[in-house]
Amino acid sequence: MSDAYILGIESSCDETAAAVVRSGEEVISNVIFSQFATHSPYGGVVPELASREHLRAIVPVVRKALDDAEKTYEGIDALAVTQGPGLAGALLVGISYAKALAFALDRPLIAVNHLEGHIHAVLLEERQKGNRELEFPVLALVVSGGHTHLYIAEEHEKSWRYHNIGHTRDDAAGEAFDKVAKLLGLGYPGGPVIDKLAKFGDPNAVRFPLSQIKHPDRIGKRSRGDGPQFDFSYSGIKTSVLRYIETHGMNAGIEERRAMLSRISKPEIDDFRKACDQQTLDLVASFQRALVQDLVGKTLAAAHEYEVASLFVTGGVAANNELRERFEQAASREGVRVYFPSRQLSTDNAAMIAAAAYPKFLAEDFAQPEFSAEASLRLK
Ligand code: KG4
Ligand code: ZN
Repeated sequence: MSDAYILGIESSCDETAAAVVRSGEEVISNVIFSQFATHSPYGGVVPELASREHLRAIVPVVRKALDDAEKTYEGIDALAVTQGPGLAGALLVGISYAKALAFALDRPLIAVNHLEGHIHAVLLEERQKGNRELEFPVLALVVSGGHTHLYIAEEHEKSWRYHNIGHTRDDAAGEAFDKVAKLLGLGYPGGPVIDKLAKFGDPNAVRFPLSQIKHPDRIGKRSRGDGPQFDFSYSGIKTSVLRYIETHGMNAGIEERRAMLSRISKPEIDDFRKACDQQTLDLVASFQRALVQDLVGKTLAAAHEYEVASLFVTGGVAANNELRERFEQAASREGVRVYFPSRQLSTDNAAMIAAAAYPKFLAEDFAQPEFSAEASLRLK
């Protein structure tokens, strides 16, 4: 089979992205336009603004992805677009544009689940490094702003199947990072800032009772008769942080920090650090330690129970330094190989969408003309 160049388009949340990937194994171009500046003053993604920004960005972003790849529109063999899960209005911008382009170019269009994309970010980069010896079964933790999901991933004659064995009962891990950052006046998105600030704090300064983040697993209650479920819960830890702020009289300091940072157009990590006292840095470090320990502990317990050989950790939160270190240590103790995407492909991008589309391209699993956005699309 000759090479297939797939143009991927991603617009499920606050990044407008387009990429060209060769045969699911080489990133030829990867363009990401982040709407960070638009949403930042609101402390979170505003869905109406996200759709408007996608509409503005989609044409130049796709054009740049083709230019960077030195490809013309005609040089593309297929298009791939995120169908869901995500914000319906945001998804629709990418889908409408991809449909129109596929029709005009007379090329097949492939609909991709965003979570499958995050899993294929790992596969894409491993193939790119020349690693084709992946061991099965694979357990994938997709940990992002919208999801904290565990899947057993299997490949059957080039097509992939996923079985969910755990998910968050309330907030996603990335959502907890973002909410805690917002509570502390650290802006949006919170994950990257907390990641960097945590290094300066004492992770053992504040103890978060395990009962606040531990959720009884549904061990014994077998879903589809296949095995136990490992669930997460991250809204309790956010409430604990809020309570800590209130009982330790931190509100005035937070207001000052918010005002101070709002006067800087693009605050750097030094600005954030200067705006934080030691108590805040300790709180940030302790929060991150508690959340990471829970994620790693639960995921490794699932890996043990399902006797997996490989572990993928992917999605925006997989960019976190402490998370990576702790997963590496724990996985090596358990004799499981752990794989992460590069930091650039951990957060939302379109290369992962084009890569996930490749097996569907080979199987001629193309989207029906009437397909539409599915905000709560499940991965199966
Ligand atoms: O995968 P992603 O780009 O979008 C979704 O599909 O949600 O993930 C975004 C999430 C945000 O919650 C952000 O705060 C978090 O990933 N994030 C991080 C880091 N970088 C991004 N969380 C912790 N540490 C990081 N370094
Ligand atoms: Zn994502």
